[in-house]
Amino acid sequence: MFANATMNSRIAKNLYHQGWAMQADYFDPLLIGQLAAEATQLYQTNLMTRASIGRGDLLHQNLSIRRDFIHWLNHDSKSQQQYQSLMETLRQSLNESLYLGLFEFEAHYAVFEAGAFYKKHLDSFRGNANRIVSVVVYLNADWPDAGGGELLIYAADGSGVELQRIRPKAGTLVVFLSEEMPHEVNVTHHQRASIAGWFKLNVHR
Ligand code: OGA
Ligand code: MN
Repeated sequence: MFANATMNSRIAKNLYHQGWAMQADYFDPLLIGQLAAEATQLYQTNLMTRASIGRGDLLHQNLSIRRDFIHWLNHDSKSQQQYQSLMETLRQSLNESLYLGLFEFEAHYAVFEAGAFYKKHLDSFRGNANRIVSVVVYLNADWPDAGGGELLIYAADGSGVELQRIRPKAGTLVVFLSEEMPHEVNVTHHQRASIAGWFKLNVHR
């Protein structure tokens, strides 16, 4: 069984106790295959744009920090709608067990070409944005052991202690607190596709 209530409550529990959670096989491989095909299609037809770190910085500064290409989800396809509806169920589950008040959701496809990375960062800065919970799902079937591109999750206390190293394997869902958990994408040796999403509050703090 894929995405179900038991998985969602385990995710909520781990999120509460350790700030992050991981669930293998959260998504049906059939759906993952369709999402992967769509990501590849968008990438190959140049409909993805180079991701930026915002703050109006220069391209070379940006490139030293992240090198992925993105495309925002827009409910266009049946598979996007299925993904969004699973995330809606997760949102409700997290709100019921953790009272997070998660309200909106935004997500983008991301493609990391071979050699690309995303240096250690937070997805949100306390007090100036409204991303509360980050979710990442991987779309590559059969990720090789030596493929690189792992997601590293670090301790929230800034000690730099590595808590977890996650292989970007198809169907795995990673969930973490956007403002608390520093994380990084290791240099990938293969093209790596994912969807990164954020549950947000409906207020700008
Ligand atoms: C991000 C991010 C992690 C990953 O897009 O902000 O940290 O494993 N992605 O792709
Ligand atoms: Mn991130």
